Amino acid sequence: MERSANIDDVRLPAGFRWGAAVSAYQIEGAVTEGGRGESIWDRFSATPGKVLNGDTGAVACDSYHRYREDVRLVRELGLDAFRFSIAWPRVLPEGRGRPNEAGLDFYDRLVDELLGAGIDPFVTLYHWDLPQTLEDRGGWPSRETVDAFAEFVEVVVGRLGDRVRHWITQCEPWVVAWLGYGEGIHAPGRTSEADALAAAHHVLLSHGRAVDVVRGASAEAEVGITIDLVAFHPHSGSDEDAVAVARADGARNRWILDPVLRGAYPEDMLERFAEVLPHVEDGDLETIGAPLDFLGVNYYTRNIVRRHPAGGDPVVVEVEGTEHTGMGWEVYPDGLYELLVRLRDDYELPPVYVTENGAAFADQRSNGSVPDPQRASYVERHLRSIARAVEDGVPVRGYFLWSLLDNFEWALGYSQRFGIVYVDFETLERVPKSSYRWYRDLIAAHRRTAAAPG
Ligand code: FCB
Repeated sequence: MERSANIDDVRLPAGFRWGAAVSAYQIEGAVTEGGRGESIWDRFSATPGKVLNGDTGAVACDSYHRYREDVRLVRELGLDAFRFSIAWPRVLPEGRGRPNEAGLDFYDRLVDELLGAGIDPFVTLYHWDLPQTLEDRGGWPSRETVDAFAEFVEVVVGRLGDRVRHWITQCEPWVVAWLGYGEGIHAPGRTSEADALAAAHHVLLSHGRAVDVVRGASAEAEVGITIDLVAFHPHSGSDEDAVAVARADGARNRWILDPVLRGAYPEDMLERFAEVLPHVEDGDLETIGAPLDFLGVNYYTRNIVRRHPAGGDPVVVEVEGTEHTGMGWEVYPDGLYELLVRLRDDYELPPVYVTENGAAFADQRSNGSVPDPQRASYVERHLRSIARAVEDGVPVRGYFLWSLLDNFEWALGYSQRFGIVYVDFETLERVPKSSYRWYRDLIAAHRRTAAAPG
């Protein structure tokens, strides 16, 4: 049975913007077409043992060729906005220097297709596909990459800035830095804490530089950054576990939030990272802390942590009886409410968009339909958390469901399906899941209720 959309449970203000999100490497495919250069994810996924089942983004959802069909799916959902990213190596195949007109033309067409359908493009400038040439010269731990990014942004905004109003500079700086350079789980697969911290600093600095470039090029542009937040809870009521929470939260959330929203790294964590701190130049933190038009928040899960028995970093504990998605991530909608309220209390908060939220489940296609009531339930409960936060005065302006399509889920390849549209990775056929219809009906009901007098 299909879950029906119950708008009474999700009271969001009129004008709340509905969206969905994707990223270039996860959906485009066509990695050697149209003059595109190599990215760190091409290299990483072609390296045996790095991505589950040897999967790569070489074909992915083939959206490079099928973007019109994808925009139609977005339009029929009734979305206000669509978030996608620009593949840097499509625009600058060598990372710097010569722009590739064919790559720019592709995004031109995509933007026009969206605008023609009445959909507001939210463009992410970096969603993890660094040109391999730049990695060869040091990657994000190298300060040179910041200049290269500013040049890239200049080229993209120069081409699309007359039509695109919403820009997201960077997506999930913590993930870029720690999974890519600290833990080696993501491209480029390096494993050094010092490199991770240097990468984080440069990703943040590149964000600040991009804010300037976007504003300089386009007066009406709104620019923000997308930060991934995790709700941390203590395993017990002990003082040690409270310290563990502060430390886990400091490394993951505050290390990124504080410089962006306050222009300073958190004091307690400066101590923790004292041996491996990045080189910070005068003025860097002012650049990073530039006022934003909006903050993007990605939220998926909570971590329960306790102190490390030998004094190391906090340990994540699995608790019996909790609900999980296919990723093994706990379903904890209250965490989103808690984080939003805390953002309002702890920072000077600009308007917020939830730029990602969603869940992977082992969806099965049967007789042409894909029932996924657990995904609709996940989304509905998180929307209720947002509605509560809005009632409590947090300025949340919109929601982007991750994801429109099943796609290449990084190190887990095609094993995790996050889409509200099922993708058959053999035939590339798109099949809307039941959650697609649920989301469409919810959006329509919200518009009707918001428009109704009284
Ligand atoms: C986020 C990423 C996004 C997707 C989701 C599941 O961390 O930004 O690309 O992989 O997780």
